[in-house]
Amino acid sequence: MKMEGMTTGKMLKLKRPSLKSPITKTLRDRFSPTLFSAKRLSEKEIKSIFEASRWAPSGYNHQPWFFYWAHKGTASYKKIVTCLSERNQWAETAPLLVVACRIPRCEHCPNGENKFAAHDLGLAVMAAIVEAQSLGIYSRQMGMFDRDGIVKLLKIPAENVPTVVIAMGRLGDYAKVSDAMLEKEMKGRVRKSVITKKI
Ligand SMILES: Cc1cc2nc3c(=O)[nH]c(=O)nc-3n(C[C@H](O)[C@H](O)[C@H](O)COP(=O)(O)O)c2cc1C
Repeated sequence: MKMEGMTTGKMLKLKRPSLKSPITKTLRDRFSPTLFSAKRLSEKEIKSIFEASRWAPSGYNHQPWFFYWAHKGTASYKKIVTCLSERNQWAETAPLLVVACRIPRCEHCPNGENKFAAHDLGLAVMAAIVEAQSLGIYSRQMGMFDRDGIVKLLKIPAENVPTVVIAMGRLGDYAKVSDAMLEKEMKGRVRKSVITKKI
């Protein structure tokens, strides 16, 4: 069964943030969908997405991140999907899955640990997401997955710590999905109102 009259245009309207101040279009347009079109990302697009991460800022310029990625239809993609939680099985619509890892171990850092690794990975992920968005490619991150399973199945070395899985692709056709699929997606986007304090 599908929700009467739902279209991708209507979904974009629902997801549009109500801004208190103007922001750049790419950030305004971004949201995290759970429905993607099957259209494969080109090699050129994938290279640009990770090039954006490459130029993200990082503590000591250590760039403590590592990205594994797989196209839909590959054995690696299937392995990632088997490690996603039950609630994240929507990700199977995405043409690309990325396993974003932080690298906390650091021989040049005090006590051998880069305490900025998680922060820096977040910056690199956001750079990738913004670059993708500028190309019309949407992203949704997932924290709910079996970390031990993904390390084992993808043979990820101990220094790379899987942190989020990212589903990437163009938006799917909301006119064609079932109500069950739409249920999660039909929520507008909310944010806390107070995020700063002038001191
Ligand atoms: C670290 C992290 C973990 C997340 N984990 C999940 C997840 O497991 N499943 C999911 O559907 N969404 C997940 N999300 C997506 C968030 O729910 C989403 O970004 C948030 O609701 C804000 O919506 P927006 O990105 O559309 O603004 C995650 C996002 C982040 C940054």
